[in-house]
Amino acid sequence: LHLFPQYTRDDVKKHKSPSDRIWVTYAGEVFDITDFVDLHPGGNRILLAAGGALEPFWALYGVHKSEHVIELLQEYKVGVL
Ligand code: HEM
Repeated sequence: LHLFPQYTRDDVKKHKSPSDRIWVTYAGEVFDITDFVDLHPGGNRILLAAGGALEPFWALYGVHKSEHVIELLQEYKVGVL
């Protein structure tokens, strides 16, 4: 059983540039997406979500509402809120 560490939204906010790592949250989970930024099919706009929640952006870009995107995101999980 792997228990992920718990973070606050303020912790996540501190991670929004490559030198500090880039974290985002989604559905109560925390992800370090630093190594995915350059692989993102939607380019640099992924950085708009750096240090915060994906939900407002993914509400606008419905392409993310698919199983393969959620599975991909899970590979980067580092904690829970
Ligand atoms: C496309 C992942 C954040 C905008 C995609 C696709 C993936 C992906 C896998 C391709 C989906 C497909 O074609 O089936 C992610 C992940 C994110 C993230 C893992 C966060 C960790 C964002 C954010 C935005 C965004 C924050 C906007 C502010 C887009 C757009 C596309 C896209 C516009 C379509 C690109 C195109 O087809 O030309 N994303 N995304 N993404 N993403 Fe993201």
